Amino acid sequence: MSPADPSAPVLAIDGPSGAGKGTVSHAVATALGWRLLDSGALYRAVGYAAGLAGIDLSDAAAAARCAAATRIEFRASATGELRVIVDGVDATDAIRTETAGAAASAIAAIPAVREALLQLQRDFRQAPGLVADGRDMGTVVFPDAGHKVFLTASAQERAGRRYKQLKAKGLAVNLSSLLLEIEARDARDASREVAPLRPAADAVVVDTTGIPVQDVVARVLSLVRGA
Ligand code: DC
Repeated sequence: MSPADPSAPVLAIDGPSGAGKGTVSHAVATALGWRLLDSGALYRAVGYAAGLAGIDLSDAAAAARCAAATRIEFRASATGELRVIVDGVDATDAIRTETAGAAASAIAAIPAVREALLQLQRDFRQAPGLVADGRDMGTVVFPDAGHKVFLTASAQERAGRRYKQLKAKGLAVNLSSLLLEIEARDARDASREVAPLRPAADAVVVDTTGIPVQDVVARVLSLVRGA
């Protein structure tokens, strides 16, 4: 990847899991013709690689070495869907499970892992612009982003959305355990010492509870376009 272009505009979209960041970021990046950084996929990929390597997450140095050594690539498939390639192997589906999400959340709490992924994330900043989706895009990775949005929704609604997505994939899921997992992950992501989940002071908070996704996309696009 070419080095970062600090003059390229950045739209940071942060928020808890299930708030619709992925869908909204993808739609907004497509509408603007900007690049997209799915930073959660990086933490998921590292959690996955660490699991394969049998790394004990209490060994922060080993986890950070794993983060620095893991090769993560995003490739568009023939249908335009983004595939995540981890050390040469397509891990798109493997990193999307609830177990992989929990592993990502655990490894993301290790400061040296976050440090190891910092430059890689900043390198996504390229012309004509970048939509960066994550938890700390507006606070840590791109504090100078020109546009910052914090997307949120009630835990009930987020669990319901996740339930529908997993069901559609034919997976056996239970709504109340999904709700408990989402609440546990929120608490861990928000209470960790390094880069906790919180809106940047200059972020616009958008609550998507009960709002159709196309309306959220329109709202975010109007913020970027200054409408
Ligand atoms: O957005 P996601 O569900 O794919 O993220 C998976 C985990 O990675 C999430 O529990 C928290 C962590 N994460 C993070 O700490 N910082 C980011 N910028 C993105 C994700």
